[in-house]
Amino acid sequence: MYEYRELIEAARAARENAYAPFSHFQVGAAVRTRAGRLIGGCNVENVSYGLTVCAERVAIFKAISEGEREFDAIAVVTDADRLTPPCGACRQIIWEMCGNVDVVLANLKGQMEIHRMKDLLPLPFDKSSF
Ligand code: THU
Repeated sequence: MYEYRELIEAARAARENAYAPFSHFQVGAAVRTRAGRLIGGCNVENVSYGLTVCAERVAIFKAISEGEREFDAIAVVTDADRLTPPCGACRQIIWEMCGNVDVVLANLKGQMEIHRMKDLLPLPFDKSSF
């Protein structure tokens, strides 16, 4: 959708910086603040594979560390034919920091889909759980 063109472009640009020498799967993400600021992130892998951090979390943690707290969308861009949804760990983080935002999945061919975060993480464990 047109309203997400720039967000997708920010994620696509962040993907260029992906550090993915092990999987060779480059991922870019970008969050949009309610004020309209776009903050990108890429996946950062490590030879100790479990230390890898996904693009979504890099983007969110960058934004949080710069003082941002209110978001209305996140985009994920890869080169895959089948659009890449956030992993389970990232869904938990997105829910905590962004809430029920639009999750925009896109690829380099120009395909895109929009999902609501609550549909990607039904029955979440969150601040209201205790
Ligand atoms: N990855 C992401 O960055 N985000 C996703 O949504 C899916 C997976 C990364 C982690 C790893 O660097 C590579 O993709 C392969 O799993």
